[in-house]
Amino acid sequence: MRVNLAGWSSPGVIAALMQLTLLVLCSAQSNNSNTRFPDGFLFGAATAAYQIEGGWNEDGKGESIWDHTMHTQPNFTADGQNGDVACDSYHLYKEDVRLLKEMGVDFYRFSISWPRILPTGEANNINQAGIDYYNNLINELLDNGIQPMITIYHWDLPQWLQELGGWVNPIIADYFEDYARVVFENFGDRVKWWFTINEPTQIVRGYSEADADAPALNKSGVGNYLAGHNLLIAHARAYHLYDNEYRSIQKGKIGLVLESSWYEPLTNSSEDAEASERAMQFCLGLHAHPIFSTDGDYPPIVRELLDKKSEAEGRPRSRLPYFSKDMVEYIQGTADFFAINYYTSGLVTFGETESHTAWEMDSGVRTSSDPSWPSSGAPWLKVVPWGLRKLINWIHKNYNSPTIIITENGMADTGNLDDAGRVYYHTSHLAELLNAVYEDGCKVAGYCVWSLLDNFQWSAGYTQVFGVYQVNFTDPARTRTAKASAKAMADIIRTRELPTDLEK
Ligand code: BGC
Repeated sequence: MRVNLAGWSSPGVIAALMQLTLLVLCSAQSNNSNTRFPDGFLFGAATAAYQIEGGWNEDGKGESIWDHTMHTQPNFTADGQNGDVACDSYHLYKEDVRLLKEMGVDFYRFSISWPRILPTGEANNINQAGIDYYNNLINELLDNGIQPMITIYHWDLPQWLQELGGWVNPIIADYFEDYARVVFENFGDRVKWWFTINEPTQIVRGYSEADADAPALNKSGVGNYLAGHNLLIAHARAYHLYDNEYRSIQKGKIGLVLESSWYEPLTNSSEDAEASERAMQFCLGLHAHPIFSTDGDYPPIVRELLDKKSEAEGRPRSRLPYFSKDMVEYIQGTADFFAINYYTSGLVTFGETESHTAWEMDSGVRTSSDPSWPSSGAPWLKVVPWGLRKLINWIHKNYNSPTIIITENGMADTGNLDDAGRVYYHTSHLAELLNAVYEDGCKVAGYCVWSLLDNFQWSAGYTQVFGVYQVNFTDPARTRTAKASAKAMADIIRTRELPTDLEK
């Protein structure tokens, strides 16, 4: 679906946005230091392998679930396009590093394609060309003074493993640990930041909604919880592997990347406050509580509701699997930091929903958005900067004030160079981040723009893009051009300060 963003570029809307930005920035200045980033604060930009690399079957790469879904269901994406070539970063990685340097980022967050280095997913057959590609990228980054931050899994499971059940087969944790070992062995001498898995909440949609993500299985309410359970165990296996065998020599940090909207109560009623808490626990707590809470395991409210519902449905066991006591302990504490992706917020109220997403049905909350929230090029993404501050505070309060890194934050449009909407998006979210730090005492160590490049936006194809650099997808050279937002981010990173005048 193509979304018309004409509204963003009309002079009225831009003027209103600028005014709003100034308001946000001025309120951030209530304490003068609120516009300045703390010493050591890290800025970065992010991408993911399938969304940018292309070279889908080059030099021995195996097939991933995204390659497979794209080639067997060509209409899966809104524009019938796929990631076969994408931004062609498999060949143009040096150009990507040049852009990162131009922006002045401290780190580049990218992911490794599992089937590029292990074509079937199994560690008995290592594809040296894949290892070489990531070695070259890592070395190019380090030569340019940019830290690599690697996501080990950002959704492109080897198809061979999917045919064994993928993330719903508990055996996947063994394969994931084997894969992680290959990654640490080959790259860990130079990489100091690791994320095992990107966004369990989105990965599990591939096992519950036929039109969301690969492998596109419609097993709503069952497949998602089974997959999420195995993702947590696989994550913990990779964490402990690093901790036991590599940390002392390689001296890096490791965690996973979670994702959540902020869910604001629709009214002041206590029911809506409860609905908000339930939504947060079903979306973020489901995968955060087992790792970051003092008790471990799934959040009590999620456990209680799913056990009750499963029983009422006549099932012999809960749709939410149980961890053994040992496994609860094994998973607890398996992250050196709290990495979170934030894009948008929702309003929530008490009540059953017609929605087909498992978490909304099971949590008994209804979500909506405020019509006054600015829209973007993606229907689900309303621009709600204050939601980021609330989300950071919720994490701070619920999980013992961890060090938080915003590993993704960004806005969709159709790819215009004069992207005033995106400039507003990033600056206003950064202002709220600084409020969380200075006014609320939360610990936030870094911020990462999603995304460095316009790229393949999963089921939306190329109809919604998030890049601060435009990519010309009709040009075989895949020319990259800086948007206004790349320049605005470069200024912020250089000065370590939010602008008070956007036109500066
Ligand atoms: C994912 C990205 C995606 C972005 C925008 C995040 O959920 O990690 O891969 O492109 O959101 O939807």
